[in-house]
Amino acid sequence: MLLASRDNMTRVIFPLSESNIGLFENVPDKTSLERFRFYHANEGKPLATPWQVALSRAQILRGYQLPEGIILDCACGSGIQIAAYSEILKRPIVGVELNEERARASAVNFRTVFTERGDDSLSRLKNSYFVVGDGRDGEKVLATLSEAGLAESRVAFLHLDPARPRNSRDHDLSEMAPRLDEIFLGWQNHLIASEAGPAILLDLSPRISNRQMLDVEKLVNDFWPGLKKTWTWTSRGRGRVDRLALWIGSIAEPGHPRRFVRIPPDPTKAPLILLGGDAIENTGEELITTPVNLQRGANMSIVDSALVESGLADDWLPTLSFGGDYVWVESTGRRPIIYHQQQLVNSGAELANLIVASGRIVDFILDNLTLETVDNLVEIALIHDIRKLTIRAGLDPKMQPKLQGSLDRQLARRHGSKEGFIVRPKSSEKYVLCVID
Ligand SMILES: C[S@@+](CC[C@H](N)C(=O)[O-])C[C@H]1O[C@@H](n2cnc3c(N)ncnc32)[C@H](O)[C@@H]1O
Repeated sequence: MLLASRDNMTRVIFPLSESNIGLFENVPDKTSLERFRFYHANEGKPLATPWQVALSRAQILRGYQLPEGIILDCACGSGIQIAAYSEILKRPIVGVELNEERARASAVNFRTVFTERGDDSLSRLKNSYFVVGDGRDGEKVLATLSEAGLAESRVAFLHLDPARPRNSRDHDLSEMAPRLDEIFLGWQNHLIASEAGPAILLDLSPRISNRQMLDVEKLVNDFWPGLKKTWTWTSRGRGRVDRLALWIGSIAEPGHPRRFVRIPPDPTKAPLILLGGDAIENTGEELITTPVNLQRGANMSIVDSALVESGLADDWLPTLSFGGDYVWVESTGRRPIIYHQQQLVNSGAELANLIVASGRIVDFILDNLTLETVDNLVEIALIHDIRKLTIRAGLDPKMQPKLQGSLDRQLARRHGSKEGFIVRPKSSEKYVLCVID
């Protein structure tokens, strides 16, 4: 059901009664335990937040006290994130979306989540609204909602996940739709501010640079000087940052400018959350590497590159068994590497998630890795009792599987018993062979 406002442009959709007729792009969300199927009209799928990410974010948000008032997503896309907020906070929500098909998809998706997860009362569904309209125009959105029967007119929490140019590695903040400053302008007079300020979450591209992060902070400061801010990197593993968000005001973590959230592969497990770090303005883009003379018997560990990107690796690593006694020999790219004398003896899920591999240096390989030299590598591996050797060094992507396959086949037939890996830090001429004890 649609309810038109006076200007006939902005309309309200009621999730309780909205039909799915005419909606398309109905695809399963593979990250959800419930195997939800969501609609994503007008190619909205790549824009949508995966359910597991949306849920973990909502769970973190639950840790903060939000006042009475509207829980708002002013550019809600397929409505996945706002549905997750409603589920976890157990509060009705408002989503605004410029694209009518997507706004309808949001309403239906919200109802799907509500129905499939079950709730004793319908009130949350009945009191939630989706608006087809311009999310930048707070005044008009609120007037339309008021006509539709929403008594509340103040916003307790504002979420913004703007669309960004597709396939652009390096987009400008002004290319975001809607733009951050336009949203701030349109909603600043409607946000409830506690002592710590309003509660705003900006869900941004994980690829924005340090300089752009500072630009975002400046934009926020122009509207709300001095608010606390916590940048949050979310990763679902394999060293990839899936989301980078800025938590502002009453939902910032006091004293912690950075947070790293690792969502485990098992959706029934709670995310790992690390807090700390330095303010963005005090740090460079990269960690400093130290030239070292790599020695047999010392250890090398490959650290999750998403953790490194968050700037929190140096806060976390000293909590491991080798303490603070390590140096970075590689700090960028897919495989950041630390070098340490003491062995890493901690175990457990944390380690498994954030240390990709850790081992003792047993040998150095001067040859280039090719199909001609792989037999030599097998022999060296056998001297060190290795049964499985993983190449963790940058190689031609066509060559990598061939070499790895050859190693796997040859070593499986022989007598080794241990696992190992080979790396090659940028500063090193040779490959380094490590054994996992
Ligand atoms: C990245 S998507 C949001 C995805 C959403 N977080 C989800 O979980 O599905 C951004 C959306 O903003 C919408 N948008 C762009 N400009 C807008 C505006 N001025 N007002 C409302 N929505 C807008 C786009 O149509 C797009 O669907």
